[in-house]
Amino acid sequence: MKGKRLRIAIASDHGGFHLKNDIVGLLMELGYNCHDFGPDTYQDVDYPDYAAKVADAVAAGDFDRGILICGTGQGMAMTANKVKGIRASLCHDVFSARMSREHNRANVLCLGQRVVGTGLAAEITKTWLEARFSDEERHKRRVGKVMALDGR
Ligand code: RB5
Repeated sequence: MKGKRLRIAIASDHGGFHLKNDIVGLLMELGYNCHDFGPDTYQDVDYPDYAAKVADAVAAGDFDRGILICGTGQGMAMTANKVKGIRASLCHDVFSARMSREHNRANVLCLGQRVVGTGLAAEITKTWLEARFSDEERHKRRVGKVMALDGR
């Protein structure tokens, strides 16, 4: 699917709220089709509630990719990866972001607002959205083995 047609679901907790707003702005500027699952205002919330909204929406096929942001990205990644069909990747550098798509076919990107600044987070996000899964057989086989463990 062509980059800009991707349907992207995004959410955060309070620890990622400001970076989420910046990334939503970036996605809109780049012409992506994105839906913000909240929170809409800065408030103390529990990251699993917001990770579940995005992970469920991506797993159901309503969105192609998800982006989840908390203070460290850790809680979002752990929660999203509990949902069947989700391959969430915590990326704080551009190389990992690209590889998580090319080799691991990540469908959810997790970021930590307290770890990276807006500039780096924007580069990571752009790279992750544009990178494509490798067609190589070994990567397909390995991702297949990852998914075979879903729910175990
Ligand atoms: C909230 O203080 C913080 O724990 C949360 O944003 C996240 O970093 C959890 O993984």
